[in-house]
Amino acid sequence: MFLSTWFFLPTIFAYLVFHLLWHQHKKRILPECIPILPTLPLIGSVHHLLQDRDLLQLIRKWHLKLGPIFGLSLFGIPAVVLNEPSYLQKILSSSEPGHLTRPSLHTSALMPPKFHVGVLPSNGEKWKSQRMIVGKGFTHEALKSYLPIFNLHGKRLISELKNILPENEGEAITQLQDLLVHTALRININVITGNNVKGDDESSQFLQDFHFIEDTVANFVTSPWFAIPPFSWWYRTRKAEVGKKAGNCERFLQKMLKQCKNGEEDPSFQSMMRVMLNQGVCEEDLISECLWLSFAGSNTVGLTLLFTLFNLALHVDHQEKCREEVDGVFSEVEEKGGNLGNDDIFKLLYLDRCIKESQRMFSVIPFSTRQLQSSFKLDENVELSKGTFVFASHDAVHINPKVFPNPEKFDPDRFLPENIRTRSSYAFTPFSAGRRDCIGAKFAMLEMKVVLAWVLRHFELETLDSYDNVECQYNVAVSPKRLIRFRLKERKL
Ligand code: HEM
Repeated sequence: MFLSTWFFLPTIFAYLVFHLLWHQHKKRILPECIPILPTLPLIGSVHHLLQDRDLLQLIRKWHLKLGPIFGLSLFGIPAVVLNEPSYLQKILSSSEPGHLTRPSLHTSALMPPKFHVGVLPSNGEKWKSQRMIVGKGFTHEALKSYLPIFNLHGKRLISELKNILPENEGEAITQLQDLLVHTALRININVITGNNVKGDDESSQFLQDFHFIEDTVANFVTSPWFAIPPFSWWYRTRKAEVGKKAGNCERFLQKMLKQCKNGEEDPSFQSMMRVMLNQGVCEEDLISECLWLSFAGSNTVGLTLLFTLFNLALHVDHQEKCREEVDGVFSEVEEKGGNLGNDDIFKLLYLDRCIKESQRMFSVIPFSTRQLQSSFKLDENVELSKGTFVFASHDAVHINPKVFPNPEKFDPDRFLPENIRTRSSYAFTPFSAGRRDCIGAKFAMLEMKVVLAWVLRHFELETLDSYDNVECQYNVAVSPKRLIRFRLKERKL
């Protein structure tokens, strides 16, 4: 009794003092009009995130309860979450340097320091110069030169699918997610290094090491406490393993760089390595950038392809409309020797709308994050102070019924020009917007249309799953909690 009194009284006292301090802190740093999630001493609102690991559902639920903006404390750091297009516009379109900083992912600490340079992880002047340099690999002309690579890997995917089908005739297959992510990664490596990753030992090892790094980093995003004792042994072990694999990847990329310097590269296009080399980027920065670009463009593209095929497998009528379009284009392509060109892709308008509607329903990158380096006026009444984290929630806008009525319905016509015109341009932002938007947006759309056209040309798809039993999880990107089951039928052409 004596002991417990001595334990509980100071605890309650400390708790009350904390609340008083937090209240004053909050008054100082988050405007009064912003509803805020309940907080606990030290950890702030983080316990809400621990109760239920489904972060996206939680954010959607809090927006319904608290409105288009709400606040929370992340270990004492104030944060706001936004799901209103005008708010997203305000933060994402700001070109004030203090509003462009992306907080360093705690996960990037898993990577050795020499891999901390790149458009994705850098900020300030370094970001600005890297973005200018890397941007030259994403011009209209550059994208057109990558089309043969998109086609090559689209065809490889078809062969891989044809290989697994006889073993699983009539059965459901679950390998599609892996194959699509793998295809996207191979395309990326091919464009970045000029090596067509045809599956020799070296490039396969690179892909394996890369996937290990990607998976470890992804697992760590939603479990930052693994860096704190008593869990830190896990962190230290993983950090050492990630360091080893990153070293292997570095050696592979160095070899590619050497080939590039010696002029032993595919003359039909300029690899991103070549683009950077021509602009005098030093070797260390170049290797780091290559790794981050591969990271940014593999899971994102692979998972968007997966969700689009899932929607088309669920809605066979829409799948047929896409296929009619694709068959029309292929009838000419086959006469011309077999590769889809820029003009062909331009004709795939219905497929384009189906991809966009899938991105709306499944926002693979659900939010953009900024940490304010200077104060920021969101509207007349709301001014956020320096240091505040801002989460611009693409996912929560995409399923906001005020912005997209009946949001759970798959309706590609939402993206007809006449319907787009009536919405804010910040209502649909799967690639974010403004000066720090996705540098690979056009690259990704072109790549996805080529790969999907190849799949729809060769296979009819069904799924054994439905929206009700496909739950999603968030790590770095959003993916299904368990593999989606597809049934593929090869078409007789
Ligand atoms: C469907 C595929 C993709 C999606 C949904 C996607 C989405 C995004 C989003 C939401 C951002 C964050 C922007 C912000 O913070 O406001 C981003 C940034 C970025 N993405 Fe993508 N992305 C995709 C594909 C790609 C590809 C293929 C590449 C490169 C080959 C790429 C490279 C990057 C880079 C370098 C950044 C950082 C830009 C900067 O900070 O200036 N992405 N992406």
